[in-house]
Amino acid sequence: LWAGVPEGPADPILGLTEAWRKDPSPAKINVGVGAYRDANGKAFVLPSVRKAEAIIAGKNLDKEYASIEGHADFRSAALKFALGKDLFKDVHAATVQSISGTGALRLGGEFLRRFHRKPEVALPDRTWPTHDKILNAAGVSTSSYRYYDASTISLNFKAMVEDLTQRAPGSAVLLHACAHNPTGIDPTQAQWEELAQVFKTQKLLPFFDMAYQGFASGDPSRDAFAVRHFVQQGLHPILTQSFAKNMGLYGERVGAFTVLCETAAEASAVLSQLKLIIRPMYSSPPINGARIATHILNTPELTAEWEGELKLMSGRIIEMRETLVKELKAAGSTKNWDFITKQIGMFCYSGMTAKHVQELREKHSIYMTSDGRISMVGLTHANVGALARAMHAVTKA
Ligand code: LMR
Repeated sequence: LWAGVPEGPADPILGLTEAWRKDPSPAKINVGVGAYRDANGKAFVLPSVRKAEAIIAGKNLDKEYASIEGHADFRSAALKFALGKDLFKDVHAATVQSISGTGALRLGGEFLRRFHRKPEVALPDRTWPTHDKILNAAGVSTSSYRYYDASTISLNFKAMVEDLTQRAPGSAVLLHACAHNPTGIDPTQAQWEELAQVFKTQKLLPFFDMAYQGFASGDPSRDAFAVRHFVQQGLHPILTQSFAKNMGLYGERVGAFTVLCETAAEASAVLSQLKLIIRPMYSSPPINGARIATHILNTPELTAEWEGELKLMSGRIIEMRETLVKELKAAGSTKNWDFITKQIGMFCYSGMTAKHVQELREKHSIYMTSDGRISMVGLTHANVGALARAMHAVTKA
């Protein structure tokens, strides 16, 4: 019956973990997927999350369906977290709970296909490789604008502005709100201010993907600068949020999708349409992760504890960046690796080619995406030296 079904390719990110698991080498290293590991290389459940779970378990809550749009307190807590409490009070928003960031992006695609007069999203050239797949699957076409300059391993801001200035009014443009994935290169605050002006003048629709709030700098307000600034400038972005990385709630699938609107009536109509999109897709979202996130966000002592954990996680990444550069030098590399400590967030965009990556995998059992992205959170003091020596071995020629 299904003899004609061809074998599909492995996912370029999640497929790496599958391959790494099967590798018998005791020296194998997984720096593929962006999933935080502690200093011993173990999966890390945040102590604030454990506390929230215990409190929730003690309440003997029911297991009824959430409403189609999700957990009400979570929806407002998530948006308040993104915008800050003052701005939150001033906006008209349609927010729904989503199946983490990926699900939020899919909702964004579905919404644009139904209601945008030209359902197309411009993506930065270098972006998360799932962005176009999610949007295309929702029937939205994708194009690109220049972002990354491979020759300098930095942001090509001039080209970015040039490309955005040429887009038709109303065009949707996806922006990584912070900790750009895969490059780890974000615009500066001054550049975000200039970008907001470009969006205003060109009447572009900002589509912010915020998967790393608090994880980039360790300070959630600072990481939300771009989103907040755009809103303060009178723009009405659409916004996807994930609590996978910042709360370590990967498998709980906790996220939110928001459309910022001009009036309360508009927000109400948009929310009603989002419900019509959700119901035939997955009916309603899961409740457990949303309860945990809400409890942390709405309990000041737990919020403070969690913010400390964010600093700990982002601090460990910064330390690993410094150690990797040191180990590369110790291994004998004379290349300039300074960009490693300048990049931020979970990833280091190493500039290594697909050939280097293949050699790392075949000769050293090191797994990373073919674009040379290293997930810094997979590094520890125990394996960073081995990675550095292997990187030097494949790049020295
Ligand atoms: C990543 O880029 O590694 C993460 O966002 C995880 C994923 O789903 O790809």
